[in-house]
Order: sequence, then structure tokens, then C-alpha cells
Amino acid sequence: MLSPPAPHPREVPGTTLGGTFGGEIGYSAMDASFWNTRYGQSDYLYGTEPNDFLTAHSSLFPEDAEVLCLADGEGRNGVYLASRGLRVTAVDSSSVGLEKARRLAAERQVPLEAVVADLADWDLGVDRWDGVVSIWAHLPREIRSTLHPRIRRALRPGGVLLMEHYHPKQIPYGTGGPSDPAMMLTLAELEGDFASWEHLHVFEGERNVQEGDKHSGLSYVTQAILRKPRGSRELP
Ligand SMILES: C[S@@+](CC[C@H](N)C(=O)[O-])C[C@H]1O[C@@H](n2cnc3c(N)ncnc32)[C@H](O)[C@@H]1O
Repeated sequence: MLSPPAPHPREVPGTTLGGTFGGEIGYSAMDASFWNTRYGQSDYLYGTEPNDFLTAHSSLFPEDAEVLCLADGEGRNGVYLASRGLRVTAVDSSSVGLEKARRLAAERQVPLEAVVADLADWDLGVDRWDGVVSIWAHLPREIRSTLHPRIRRALRPGGVLLMEHYHPKQIPYGTGGPSDPAMMLTLAELEGDFASWEHLHVFEGERNVQEGDKHSGLSYVTQAILRKPRGSRELP
């Protein structure tokens, strides 16, 4: 039997659900309103089960690790990690999505810090996290080009970045993801942006994705699990 939700032990800058709800920092109205509408149904858009690539590799995060889930939407991935005992912060620009994430965490009786913020300029901190998880966090190149250096600084040495995104070759598959290939990710981009990080797993290619009717069928994905070199510090 799990114990009732406990408050998250650390404060994270940004607007947390359950605290002040207005005044989101760096809010991107267009993105957030699109996703708020999409999440405005009672069902969970991608279901409440976690992404299966994440579940296959989540044991890489040490017990009680502090993990940041980027663009966590309705929270299925963050809540799953919290249910494994990790201390999870979920960030997303959709207040509607994160409200559902908070509800899911309460149902499962796990703590989840939910921060409404725009990843275009949200401060991820420095040497702050043991893990960063990015599942289908499709963002324009302009945002990725500043977000990736912020992820580099934000992970502690030895910390792990786990990502699964659609690859630009996903477009003709029509089984999920944005319509703009520039929002998708290649290994070449990641390898450039995280040069010198240890490759625990890298993959570009086809796999079957089943996460509700929006992510359904044979797909072309980019997966990476990268470890920040121990003893390395990125300059702020
Ligand atoms: C495809 S959904 C993935 C949701 C979640 N990771 C999952 O796998 O269920 C993409 C998410 O990115 C979020 N998002 C898009 N642009 C964002 C931004 N600039 N800052 C923060 N979140 C953003 C959306 O609100 C949405 O929840």
C-alpha cells in the first residue's frame, strides 16, 4: 500500500500546480492553447500507461533519483517514475495537461511536482537533476538549440538523459507526431549537441508505437540514452 502524497521536498522555480496558478513564466500562448484544447477531454490523450521505451530503461535511474520530465503533458511518464520512488518534476506549458497529471498522481497516491512553464526559456538549474526524460517533446529548432545546452548544464555529472522523439522520416508514416519535420529529432543533432556524452543506447529507425489513437502503428523514431561524463561541469 502506497502512502498518501507527500509534498515534494525541493522547490522548483516556476508556477506549481497547487500553488499560484496564474502568471506562468515564459508562457507561449499559441502552443499552450493548442495543447490545452487537445487535453480538454476527460480521457487521457496518450493513455495513462507510460511510454514503453521509458519503462524498459527506467532502472537506469538510481532509486530516489531526482528526475525532470520535459513536456510531460498529462503526466503518464512522470507519474510512472514517481510510482517507482523517484522524485519527479514534470514541466509542460499546458496547464490543462498538468492538471490531469496532478490528478493521476493523486489517484496513484504518488508525489509529483508539476510546473507550468515554457521550455523556450525555463531555467532547468545547474547540476540539479540525476535524470532528464524527454518523451515526444517536439519543439522547434530555435527552442532545442537553447534547451539542449540548458539540459547539459542541468544534469549532474553521471546523470542520464533519456529521449524518444519522432524522427523527420516519420512524416510519411502518418502514425503520430507533428506535421513539421523540423520539430523532430535526429541522432546527428543529438550527437552534435551532446558531444562527449557516453552513449548507453542510441537508435534511429522503425518501431511499433501504441499509445492511444494519436500514436498508433509503425513509426520512425529517434531514441537516445546519454550519460553526462562524470567529473564534467558545463559552464553556466
Ligand atoms: C506529444 S505531447 C507529449 C506529452 C508527454 N511527453 C507524453 O509522452 O505523454 C507534447 C507535449 O509538449 C508540450 N509542449 C509543447 N511545446 C512546449 C513548450 N514550448 N514548453 C513546454 N511544453 C511544451 C505540450 O504541451 C505537450 O504536452
